[in-house]
Order: sequence, then C-alpha cells, then structure tokens
Amino acid sequence: MLKKVILITGANGEIGQYLIKELNRKNIENILAIDLHPLSIQCRIEQYLQGSILDIKLLKAIQEKYIVSEIYHLAAILSTKAEKNIQLANDVNIKGTKNILDLAKKLGKKYMIKIPFFFPSSIAVYNTISNNSFTINEEMTEEKPITIYGQAKLKCEKMGFDYMKNCNSKEIDFRCIRFPGIISASTMPSGGTSDYVPEMIHHAAKNLKYECFIKKDSQLPFIVMPDAIQAIFNLMNADINQLTTYIYNITSFNQPTHNFYLKIKNYYPQFEMIYDIDLKRQKIVDSWPNNINDKKAKEDWGWEPQYNFDNAFNKYIFPEIKNIIQETM
Ligand code: SER
Repeated sequence: MLKKVILITGANGEIGQYLIKELNRKNIENILAIDLHPLSIQCRIEQYLQGSILDIKLLKAIQEKYIVSEIYHLAAILSTKAEKNIQLANDVNIKGTKNILDLAKKLGKKYMIKIPFFFPSSIAVYNTISNNSFTINEEMTEEKPITIYGQAKLKCEKMGFDYMKNCNSKEIDFRCIRFPGIISASTMPSGGTSDYVPEMIHHAAKNLKYECFIKKDSQLPFIVMPDAIQAIFNLMNADINQLTTYIYNITSFNQPTHNFYLKIKNYYPQFEMIYDIDLKRQKIVDSWPNNINDKKAKEDWGWEPQYNFDNAFNKYIFPEIKNIIQETM
C-alpha cells in the first residue's frame, strides 16, 4: 500500500528545519523531505531525499511511491543570492515551483484529493519606491518588485492561484504568507537581504565583531521563527470559508537597524559592530516596506504574534542561543 506523506521541499533551510521539529513535536513523522543538501538536524521522518526540485525523475519517483497529503514548498534561492545567480534563481524559484504545483495537480487528480499547498512569499513582492509609501496597507498583487527574487515570488503566487482556479479548487488548495524578515535563534540565514539582523545576533553570541551592510536608520518588518511556524499552521488549518484571500501579510516588530544593535549590546556588552554599507543590498532594503499591515491575517485566521521586539529577545532569542551554546560545550 502507498504511504501518505507530507512533502516538504527545502527541508534543510531555516524554515524547513524548524517546521520538521514542530511537526515531530506534534508526533507527526510521515514526512517526505527534499533538499539539495544533507539534513543537518536530528528528526523522525519517513524519508529524506537529497536532490533537486528541478529533477523530474525524482519527482516522478515520488508520484509513484507516495500519496502526498499536504505540501510545504519552501525551496528557494533568497534575494541577495538570486541577484548574483539570476538563471539559477529563476530555475529554482519559478520552474521549481511549477514542478511542485504540477506534482500536486497530478497527485490530486490521481487520488481524487485536494492537496493543501503552502507557499512562503515575502515582503520582497512589494516596492515602496514605486508605491511612494513606506507602509503597505493591504495585500495587493499588482506590485513591481525590483529584485529577481521578489519578481519570482509574485509570479509564483499568481501561478499557484491559477492552478487552484483551473481545477476549481478540486486538486490544490493554495495558500501563502508574505513573510517579513525571519529571525531564528537556532540557524543562521544565508543568501537573504534581511540577514543583517540575524547575522548581528549570531555574531554577538559568538563574540565576533560584525560589519553591518545596511544603514543604521533603515527599517524592515521582522518576526521570530516560532511565530512564523505558528502562522503557517494556523493558516493551513483555517477553514477555507474563513479565508477572504489566498495571500496574507504577517508581521510583528520593525525597528531601525541601530535599535537591534543596542538591544543586542544590552545582553552582550562586549559586542562591537561597524557599518559597511553594501549599496546593492541597501537598495533592496530601501525598496521593501518599513512596515506591513497584517489585519487580514488577524481577522481571517486569528494571526497574533506571540513575540514582540522585547520578549522576542528576552524569552526566545537570548535564552535559546544560550541553551545551544551550552549544549555544544
Ligand atoms: N528574508 C528574505 C530575504 O532577505 C526575503 O523574504 O531574502
């Protein structure tokens, strides 16, 4: 008999690792995880496939061997890396997403099931320069993102919606969140532009000096990883009749770069940071919103972050990092 599994792509990424741990905490282990790299966490899953979402043979093998009951399609090339590898970024971010949507469609049709499909989008779909406003008031789809990454996210949001519409929502139930920067205490991001805040934290914890590539008064919205994962669960578990859209903004706190530095320095007084602005990355940050309105997520599926600027550091980031350091000593 074929096994029913939850498919997670990009499983070894920051969101993937935390998502798997949280599913395991809920005693969910029927997970089929894919990533290009070996899995770097201890966890209980059905199978780990080290490979690419661009590998059609691999996807075919999944189609033949499993019934996929849910998809979390997290694999992506983040914004800074995407600008440097445009072809690779478009292949992974656009073609890869199409491949996973095709897989969902085929499996949905074959087993006559509707597959919930989670897609992580981003504040990168916005462009505050062309909008002439630093705050995004509601989810809109007619944006003109300046990054290759943001353009791909926008395209894939639309593609997911079209797949869902074309099958009258029979095979795919596509839902997505436009994430702000995400801060994880247990992993260090790579290839993103909002990385300056988590990098700052992890450098301080390792007693390393940090060269911040973004200006001291720039501001982006952020959340911490436990809230990001809770949001994914809440959205995916929401009754479809509660949803007024398939795209939702979420956020928690937004502070100028320098306030993050001061907050971290309070805890790690020896921490030293200098500013060495990367103009390309600064331009990206300047085009992203300072803040976004997440009213719809609050109204439709009860989104409420557990962590704000203060308790994110005092209750999650600092204690968690301390634990990790102690465990590795
Ligand atoms: N945090 C991502 C990045 O910086 C955007 O979603 O690339």
